[in-house]
Amino acid sequence: MSLPEPSRRDTRLDQYVDAYAERTHGLQVSAVRALFAVANRPEVVSLAGGMPNITDLPREALGQAMERLVRERGVQAMQYGSGQGEPFMREQITEVMALEAIHAHADDIVVTCGSQQALDLVTRVFINPGDVILTEGPSYVGALGTFHAYQAKVVHVAMDDEGIIPQALEQAIVSLRAAGQQVKFLYTIPNFQNPTGVTQPVARRKELLDVAQRHRLLIIEDNPYGLLTIEGAPMPALRSMDADNVIYLGSFSKTFAPGFRIGWVLAPHAVREKLVLTQEAATLAPPVFSQFAISTYLAEFDWKGQIDTFRAMYAERRDAMLAGLAEYMPEGSTWTTPNGGFFVWVTLPEGIDSHAMLPRAVTARVAYTPGTAFYSDGLGSRNMRLSYCFPPPERILEGTKRLGEVIAAELEMNRTFGIAAGEHRHNDLQTGPAPDIS
Ligand SMILES: Cc1ncc(COP(=O)(O)O)c(C=O)c1O
Repeated sequence: MSLPEPSRRDTRLDQYVDAYAERTHGLQVSAVRALFAVANRPEVVSLAGGMPNITDLPREALGQAMERLVRERGVQAMQYGSGQGEPFMREQITEVMALEAIHAHADDIVVTCGSQQALDLVTRVFINPGDVILTEGPSYVGALGTFHAYQAKVVHVAMDDEGIIPQALEQAIVSLRAAGQQVKFLYTIPNFQNPTGVTQPVARRKELLDVAQRHRLLIIEDNPYGLLTIEGAPMPALRSMDADNVIYLGSFSKTFAPGFRIGWVLAPHAVREKLVLTQEAATLAPPVFSQFAISTYLAEFDWKGQIDTFRAMYAERRDAMLAGLAEYMPEGSTWTTPNGGFFVWVTLPEGIDSHAMLPRAVTARVAYTPGTAFYSDGLGSRNMRLSYCFPPPERILEGTKRLGEVIAAELEMNRTFGIAAGEHRHNDLQTGPAPDIS
């Protein structure tokens, strides 16, 4: 006898509204997630999401290796594992980090469910409600979401085309502390930053480390894109220049595949202990099967050669985007020129609000992420993030063409209806916001 179909009750009334913890009040649907629903339609050229293009992976051979893994080592690979991550995985991670001049011990690594969980664990370990986190203005939307979920106060620090401006960082630390605020750490993405594509040169890294050391400020270095350079070798990580003051986050999502959900934290010993306990409380152990799978990939496949294949593929797409922007963007627009990673940051002509324009862009079958998604203080309305990682080059060109037409029409509308130029709050990289100490 079969049971009756369970009925589904859709209602907007939330009977738990008074029961939720305060920390959930800051939770917001990310602009990126809301966008995915429309932007994924095939007729839309999506320059919005940040999905890596993994079609070039050797899937046939990977399938065979996974089949062997289950058959020969499945009993361990499908079992519970260590809360810190499997020892062999942590050893191999030290080899990956050596490419960015980090000499680390496998004991100081905690494997996580993507670097997103690393962000969550680090925030959980350090942040009390109301504590201040400093970060680039603009910064990675997923990190902002995590910081808000733990009720941190995010203060953006101005950046230029070499990343965070050291003087602005120093000024923010001094003035916030003078105002009695607990400034806990600087969160920074030194390579091909999400969303600007900007990379900190070595001299800038040294200056930032110097400011942080003088003011005893911890740095969280988030580096998922560092190996995806277009020209030249990877940059030395901040962690390679300061082992005591930097917590480093890494990921296999962009250099291999995000579906395995494996990232890691490299932290000073005492912090590492706390991260392991926090990891155990959250998940017991990071995904064990994924660690076996990635370990197999690193041991049996030419993973460095694969990264070079990815680099060449992304280089072609970056070039298509820069060519498209140069050809189709109306006068008054500017953009960054990334040497790797996935993103270009565009500053639009005065008077254009990228958030308000988005529905018209999607109607014209092109999507982007509005700049406001990357600020916690409402800035960024004259900016947009364009990703070149996923669509093929000809689609990218077509996308920039459609975008140029949408912006031109928007400018025309502003001229007709007389919307005051500069009405919106915006930020281009040179005139970043002053630190907010309110
Ligand atoms: C800067 C940055 N950090 C962290 C992540 C999260 O990556 P994952 O959890 O897949 O390792 C992303 C993903 O796009 C990112 O851009």
